[in-house]
Amino acid sequence: MAGRGPAGKTNRSMNTLETGRAEIGHVPVRIWNGGRKGTAMKGMELGGKRATQLQATQPRTAGKKIMHGADYYPEQWLDTPEILEEDLRMMKLAHIDTVTLGVFAWAALEPEEGFWRFEWLDRVMDRLHENGIQVILATPSGARPAWLAKAYPEVLRVTQDRQRNLYGMRMNHCYTSPRYRELTKRIDSKLAARYAKHPALKAWHISNEYHGECHCGLCQEAFRRFLQEKYGSLEKLNQAWWTAFWSKIYTDWEQVESPSSRGEMAVQGLALDWKRFVTVQTKAFMDMEIGAVKAYTPDISVTTNMIGSFIEVDYPRLAPSLDVASMDLYPQWGSASCREVAMDAGFEYDVIRCLKMTPFWLMETTPSMTSWTEVGKLKEPGLHRAGCLQAVAHGADSVQYFQWRKSRGAFEKFHGAIIGHSGHEHTRVFRETAQLGEILGKLGEVAGTRCRGEAAVLYDWSNRWAIEGSMGPRKNKYYEETVREHYRALRSLGLNVDVIEEGQPLEDYAIVAAPMLYLVKVGLAEALEAYVEKGGILLLTYFSGIVDENDLCFQGGFPGPLRKLAGVWVEELDTLYPEEQGRIVSMPENSIKIHGIWTSRDYIEVIHPETAAVEAVHGTSWYQGMPALTSNKWEAGSVWYLAARAEEAFLKILYGKLLSMAAKRKKAQAGPVRQRKLPEEVELSIRRDGTYQYFFYINWGRRECTVKAPEGVELTGGHECRGELVLEPLGTAVVKAAYTERCS
Ligand code: GAL
Repeated sequence: MAGRGPAGKTNRSMNTLETGRAEIGHVPVRIWNGGRKGTAMKGMELGGKRATQLQATQPRTAGKKIMHGADYYPEQWLDTPEILEEDLRMMKLAHIDTVTLGVFAWAALEPEEGFWRFEWLDRVMDRLHENGIQVILATPSGARPAWLAKAYPEVLRVTQDRQRNLYGMRMNHCYTSPRYRELTKRIDSKLAARYAKHPALKAWHISNEYHGECHCGLCQEAFRRFLQEKYGSLEKLNQAWWTAFWSKIYTDWEQVESPSSRGEMAVQGLALDWKRFVTVQTKAFMDMEIGAVKAYTPDISVTTNMIGSFIEVDYPRLAPSLDVASMDLYPQWGSASCREVAMDAGFEYDVIRCLKMTPFWLMETTPSMTSWTEVGKLKEPGLHRAGCLQAVAHGADSVQYFQWRKSRGAFEKFHGAIIGHSGHEHTRVFRETAQLGEILGKLGEVAGTRCRGEAAVLYDWSNRWAIEGSMGPRKNKYYEETVREHYRALRSLGLNVDVIEEGQPLEDYAIVAAPMLYLVKVGLAEALEAYVEKGGILLLTYFSGIVDENDLCFQGGFPGPLRKLAGVWVEELDTLYPEEQGRIVSMPENSIKIHGIWTSRDYIEVIHPETAAVEAVHGTSWYQGMPALTSNKWEAGSVWYLAARAEEAFLKILYGKLLSMAAKRKKAQAGPVRQRKLPEEVELSIRRDGTYQYFFYINWGRRECTVKAPEGVELTGGHECRGELVLEPLGTAVVKAAYTERCS
């Protein structure tokens, strides 16, 4: 799966059927009441008819808290009811206050069509509530029973080479299929009707990690309708897709098909529109599910668990339908230094946080190891606390795990869980989880506070798709890596950084970094101009302003609509072999007082300043002496254009200088922002409300570090902080300080 950093699931393909097949199949015909055989009969309609006997013994949101929870799959243990009681006992010991139920429980809830089994879920919900544990209840559409696929083969996905999948795995369904929508809506509605008033119900977890695409006939028809609506005429479509090239002109809508390795792969406008369509279908399906539960529970929050920067689904399009953004993240600790892995994880959190600019929920992470990766690495002692607090530092109001208890068999039997196959709590993983739960209990007041980005990195799905799909200027574009390099450089200055898409408001940021802004949407150039005009500092790089939303190159000179703003004309773009290196040499006199020589790689541009000043030049090859970094004054702000992929050390210096510049400019709303000096290995994130700010420090290094911190209270230890903190390796601290400009 392209586009995931090491923090994400680089090694797992989400778009093909996972091998090894985990089949739910038929559940044992038992109900939860003491393990006696169930008596439910075919056609028995329980959905919507059960008025819960339970009175709410506590409000749904009992005060502010950072939730601590786990995915819980009691349906796997229906024939051993004593497990539920044991789980409840241990959940309380682990300070678990929330569980996600029912994510893949369709077959347990509807073992045959129209044959409903809710009794086990009633009992679990009741017992959880009686034990003070709230429930995020899932709609089960992420995996379906075998009977359903057998009865209605149209629900199964068709792959891009036009093969219909067999029944198996999960997320193997067509989003367009009216039958799948109908059956999903029916079970979602039944769940919602039945548990609408249940006091344990905290929120809805809609499906699971929506992803993938289907190329069946129904999808092809829907795709054509989508295109007809978008373009109105084939003439416009042909123009947008540049179909005169290789004789691709469409003369009938019926000729249009989704991309396929057996068919059309060369029309990039088509590929982009197909990806957009897949997101539209995904959202339509999700909205249908949300509508089903909201019909009964209009006031209960809905979320769906997203996968950070996962490239397949344009998450900013899904976000408006959700009350809360939530995500799953499995940082691959051990694959690089803790700091590197953490920086990537931080980026993922910030992508999801910025979808709604409000706190998000960390819906899944592992308490120990993952089983789908090349290497199943355990977290060394202390890493669990540091890793989970990092999520909170970046704006999470929950830490939840996949999973509470390891399954005995099937696909994920080795995946980390709080309770392993030993079945008890006397384990290191349990202890560390419980300790984290205790710490989260002390951070309740942090819930709801915001992380306000002081700088932003532009990161846009259309841009990503277009860059990845473009033939040239080189095979590996290094887009994802580059964005993260800029993010890291800004983070190393101690800044909170927002990761936003094209079109999000910019005015509050001291700096906006827009690396490799290849695709420029309508209106973006004007928005950037307005931002800079009022004193903003914008950094653009090589390979920007190349195409419009349809992947059509801008005519008249790059960087197209950004040319005036950047004050440069890009004549040529050279790309380098891996063993080649360029140099960036500062001008003897430059406006930001940088002095030195740095390396560049992969991309070097030949640019001509028009209104911009030259701050540094290329130091190698035939472009030696030509501009590598320029600045263009634009009203109260400035635009910086970097004409090569610079080493990270250079980015840090450059952003440091730009930040000092920003600090001098009294920006209207953002207030002065300045660099916060930190030891290299320490990460700082700040959450705030109107009264307090919460400084989260994490030492990712192997040595003890001393950091300057504001005066206040260290919340996890409950002691005073007098301006300095000592952090042991993997040590964490959360300092609460009054909200004053002096502290920030
Ligand atoms: C997630 C998924 C979970 C579980 C987990 C294992 O992507 O939502 O159901 O499979 O991965 O890491």
